[in-house]
Amino acid sequence: MSVGSEDVFARLERGRDRAVAELCEFLRIPSISTDPDYAAEVERAADWLLGRLAAAGLATEKIATEGHPLVYAEWTGAGPERPTVLIYGHYDVQPPDPLDEWRNPPFEPTIEEGRVVARGATDDKGQSYAHVTALAAMLAERGELPVNVKLLIEGEEESGGESIERFVREDGASKLACDCVLVSDTSMWAPGVPALTYGLKGLAYFEIRVQGPNRDLHSGVFGGGVENPGNALAGIVASLRDPATGRILVDGFYDDVRPLADWERAEFAALGWDEEEVRRDLAVPALAGEQGYSYVERTWARPTCDVNGLWCGYQGKGAKTVLPAAAGCKVSFRLVADQTPAKIAELVRAHVARVAPPGVKVTVEALHGAEAVTVDATGPIAEAALAAMADVWGQKALRIRTGGSIPIVGTFADVLAVPVLLMGFGLEDDGLHSPNEKFDLVNFHDGARAVVRFLDRLGAA
Ligand code: BES
Ligand code: ZN
Repeated sequence: MSVGSEDVFARLERGRDRAVAELCEFLRIPSISTDPDYAAEVERAADWLLGRLAAAGLATEKIATEGHPLVYAEWTGAGPERPTVLIYGHYDVQPPDPLDEWRNPPFEPTIEEGRVVARGATDDKGQSYAHVTALAAMLAERGELPVNVKLLIEGEEESGGESIERFVREDGASKLACDCVLVSDTSMWAPGVPALTYGLKGLAYFEIRVQGPNRDLHSGVFGGGVENPGNALAGIVASLRDPATGRILVDGFYDDVRPLADWERAEFAALGWDEEEVRRDLAVPALAGEQGYSYVERTWARPTCDVNGLWCGYQGKGAKTVLPAAAGCKVSFRLVADQTPAKIAELVRAHVARVAPPGVKVTVEALHGAEAVTVDATGPIAEAALAAMADVWGQKALRIRTGGSIPIVGTFADVLAVPVLLMGFGLEDDGLHSPNEKFDLVNFHDGARAVVRFLDRLGAA
């Protein structure tokens, strides 16, 4: 190692149990951003985090927004000649549903075989808190940091992130001026194999509602004479994708898609992803997707279409003969460069209007969107991040992409015009957005060490 971090590593080692206990405190706060009933809890999570950052020795600020507050903190004692790192994360979480599939309640963290299990364990409280733990240990051990640090932790990432978007566009250039952005909200390649993610997908998310007759009807008395909203919705959903080729059938959908470069296809193939292992783990009869592309290409770099929720008619036990009055679904398209959510929304609206049968009223509401982004994972700062990860894991860090989205990353790249480093500590099987989400504690601790190494490397450069 070119610059020593052992002093801080030793302190982190002694503080392991306390750091985990603090993380569990954080995880106990149900900061579900999408559900207005939880607004006070989201705020409580922000306050809790601000308290920890202040205790670590950073200057903190709670930034009010029209939505959930932004947590801001900084330590600028390294002086203007040293680099500045902006750390981004999110303290909000996805809803924990379905509740009855959790082994323990989602907001009562448990430690099972070296993993903490709770909603938000990886995504993103655990990963964000690895940063806080790293900064606290560095400041406690040395009374200073090797670089200037700013933190911006938002409370709306899982529900669209509109407040941070506005804040970064309005105040970012001055308040957030930095030399790079460091984000830990992605995954490693595999256990023990670190990675820097350089591509995130974008998102265009819709709710489609189909309204039929003004009340539920007897399906024998009225069936065949009145359009059934369930049938109509099924037709609309089915029209979005060709089941034979996996291609999306919305006119113009692929117009702006940047094709996969040959070098990228070769790099993906060289990673040697085990498709059969995925199939077995998920217990599906076969993997699926767009013809002509591998699993990694489909999930990392090709646009996709997925139903996220679907409702209509009788859901209880047994059979009820009914022609339901209404039906609906939530459907999302993951986008790649250079598609935009606004244009996709137009195309989807036109498509739905074209295929909807005349006997029902159909509305398409765009819920949220994000731009796809690819960042440059080369250059001295990215190299420092790759080297820091290799220091900690003793393994070369790979460059990977993901099918997930982090809406603000594109805006950071745009407004701040600096490298964005997606240094993830999660694992593919962490159960993000699923029941029994977990975070391997070894990755929590190694993640904190990787942050320390990165800051030390950057400070020594
Ligand atoms: N941390 C995830 C994104 C992610 C997941 C990156 C897995 C890499 C691997 C993030 O919190 C997330 O889930 N984002 C949402 C954004 C959406 C609600 C706008 C997503 O991708 O669904
Ligand atoms: Zn998420």
